[in-house]
Parts: sequence; structure tokens; C-alpha cells
Amino acid sequence: MSPRDAATKVSETLDRFPGFYYRQPKDSRHRESVLYCENISLNHLAKRFGTPLYVYSTATIKARLSAFDKAFGNFPHTICYSVKANSNLRILRLLAREGCGFDVVSVGELERVLRADGRSAKKIVFSGVGKSPAEMLAALKAGILLFNVESESELSALAKCAAKLQKEARVALRVNPDVDAKTHPYISTGLHKHKFGIPIANARQLYAQAARTKHLKVAGVSVHIGSQITDIDPFAEAVARVADLIEDLRADGHAISLVDVGGGVGIAYEQRETDFSDHFARYARAVTEPLREFKVHLLLEPGRTIVGPAGVLLTSVLYRKRNDGKQFLVVDAAMNDLMRPALYGAYHEIVPVGRKPENQQPEEVVDVVGPVCESGDFLGRDRNLPAVEEGDLLAVLDAGAYGMALASNYNTRPRPAEVLVSGKSAKLIRRRERISDLLSAEL
Ligand code: LLP
Repeated sequence: MSPRDAATKVSETLDRFPGFYYRQPKDSRHRESVLYCENISLNHLAKRFGTPLYVYSTATIKARLSAFDKAFGNFPHTICYSVKANSNLRILRLLAREGCGFDVVSVGELERVLRADGRSAKKIVFSGVGKSPAEMLAALKAGILLFNVESESELSALAKCAAKLQKEARVALRVNPDVDAKTHPYISTGLHKHKFGIPIANARQLYAQAARTKHLKVAGVSVHIGSQITDIDPFAEAVARVADLIEDLRADGHAISLVDVGGGVGIAYEQRETDFSDHFARYARAVTEPLREFKVHLLLEPGRTIVGPAGVLLTSVLYRKRNDGKQFLVVDAAMNDLMRPALYGAYHEIVPVGRKPENQQPEEVVDVVGPVCESGDFLGRDRNLPAVEEGDLLAVLDAGAYGMALASNYNTRPRPAEVLVSGKSAKLIRRRERISDLLSAEL
């Protein structure tokens, strides 16, 4: 057992404010408290919708979005929510209603946004290292705000597409600032060895080329150094390098009005995040300070920051199993439903939905594993959890981002249903897949 896990007693952990918290139901005879999402108990949701089930809190999404927005104060900015984190249409619609634009990386994501809210096109930025001409044409037709271009070849492909439609494409070059984001290597993007962006030293030359190209309009600079970055310094460093570049580009005569600083700041998977406003404020200061004098409009592409703590994956314990002294809880959710632990060794806190008063529930060290036929199929290892029984419910926290979005059908497992809670109401926003859905595309 790692020291961290030993220290993580369920009794010390609790809320994901304001959506998820323990409360004693009125009819509880055993002084058991139950995990709620807003005003609905997760027991109730499991009975109504089955497990495994993704449950999202509207209040948490709104609170985090509003705090993130406020952190930037009167610095001109647009939040372009990163669709890849959680692309459910209802979540997109909710965010559009709250005023968000969107960051998309495929024509599929573009279509989702347009379907969720047709008026959002003007606030869409298109990122990604390999946009195909078909995708560029679709985005040009939709009239999106900005293409974040990542190579010379992509720039000329975009120019061809724009010429074909007789339209103008607004572009930013995504520069690679060669800054170490100190996050997991798979989600770190800002070093020269990564496939992303254009080395910042070559940017000036490519901007000159873009400015000479008909149908392209140079509009901004973009940078994204990685995801789940909790240390603020790398952001400040990257934006400072971008600021130097803007100075050069303006001296070269380019009208740089947009600066896209990429994804948001990381979240606290391992402890309660009591004051996210403060965390956001520090991040906002880091990215705005270097740009103050430039009179630019900031584009922000947070995903996880907004929706990560707003979702849990609810799962039932199928079996208790002991192998040579090691205790396993085999649950009905698996790596196909939540891939982050298997893929990145990511830590997600796991808590029982029902919690007895402390002295009545002994704790035990368990591995929480799924039914998939791989040893990498675990949701948590060596966790100190109150002893639960077969049939009990567990909640895997902070699963709102890159949870369902990364889910697969491995082992021919239908993906979970998704429910969006708002106060007392729970809406099914994606029905549970059926095996027939999985087979329907096969010939
Ligand atoms: N903008 C760009 C250009 C990105 O590549 C990403 C994430 C974002 C914005 C959103 O970043 P966020 O605010 O969510 O940190 N599957 C991984 C995360 C991959 C992130 C990829 N790009 C995970 O589960 O941790």
C-alpha cells in the first residue's frame, strides 16, 4: 500500500463541491449517510438507471465555469470549452447556454457542437495536428472563428480548401514553446520532441508565408503545453515566450488580435479541492500578466477543469474475491468504461455510496478491478476502503472528463448510460448502449 493510499481514509475525503456530498437520508434507520448528487441519492440513480453509470452535476459544471470565467476578470476573453473532455450533446448545450465557445479537434466534434447549438459556430476554434481537407471544408462552411494550424503542409491544405469555397480562413499558428509541463508524458505536448505545433523559432517565417497566401488571414497565436498541469510556472513561461513572439510578429506587420492559450489548469484528483477559485485566479494571473500590454483577446480551451470534478462513475460490487491474501472487489465498471487508470496509471478516488458511522465499518485494503480480461483492468489499487459487500455501490470520483469520452467497447461491453442531475431532477442524457448497437455497423 502506498503511503498516500494509507492516508486516504474515506472519512477524511468527501465532497466534490457543490455537486457531490454525503448526507443522511430522512428515512435512514441505521444512521448511514449516502452520497448524493445535488438533491438525489446515488442509490436512487443506480436503481433507476442501472450501473455502470456516469452521473454529472449541473451545479458543479456551472460553478466551475463561472469561477474560471471570473478569474479572468475584465481581460477580454472567450472560453472555448474543449469538447474532447466530455462531448455529450446535453453537456455541450448546457455550456453553450452559459456562453461558452468550443475547441474541436475533428469534424465529429464540430458536428456535435453545431447540433448542440447552431449559433456557436462563430465561437469555435479548430485544433489538432492532422485536420483532413474534408474536415477543413466542413469547418469553413460552418464559418468557425479560428484554425489553429500546426504545420506548413497543413497551412497550404487550408489555403486550398478556402480557395475552393472562395472563403477566408482565420488562422493562428500553434507554436511549440519548448517548455516542460511536468505532467504525464502522454499528455505533455510543449517540448520539441512532441508532434505538436511549430517550433517557436520557425514561426516568424511561416507567419510571413501565411500572410502572403490568398484566402488565409493571420489572426492570432496559439499554444498548448499539455493537460493536467497543476504547477502554474510552465504556463507563465510558455505565455511569456508567446508574448515575445507577438512583439516580433507585430513588428513584421501582422495583426495579431487573438491569443489561444490552450487547455485549462489541472484538477486535484487526490484530495478535496476546497478552493478552486483561488487556483483559477493564480492560473489566470500567470497567463494574462505577460499579455497585459498587447491588447489581445484571449481564447481559453479548458476541458477537465470544468467537467472533471462534475462527474462520477457509479459501479456495483459484483464479487469479493481473495487471492493469496490480496482482497479484490470485482465491480461492473471496467477499463473500457474508464480508461484513465489503465492508460496513465491515473488516480481516481473511490468511495462507497453508503457510509456507516465510522466505528461501525472496518476498513480494508482492496484492489478495485473490472471484469475485462487484462491485468491492467483496475480502477484503483491498494485502496483503503470501508468494507463493502457484494451488491454495494461505489463511486469513482472526478470522472467527468476523459471518462465516457475515452470509453470503448473492448470485450464487446456496451458503454454506460449518462445522467445529468440538476437539483431534484435527473435526466438520462445518453441511454445505455445495447449489444445490438455494437453489432449494427458490422457486415
Ligand atoms: N486544447 C488542446 C489543444 C488540447 O490538446 C487539450 C487536451 C485541451 C485543450 C484540453 O485540456 P484540459 O483543459 O482538459 O486539460 N486523455 C487525457 C487528457 C488528454 C488531453 C488532450 N488534450 C487524460 O485523461 O488525462
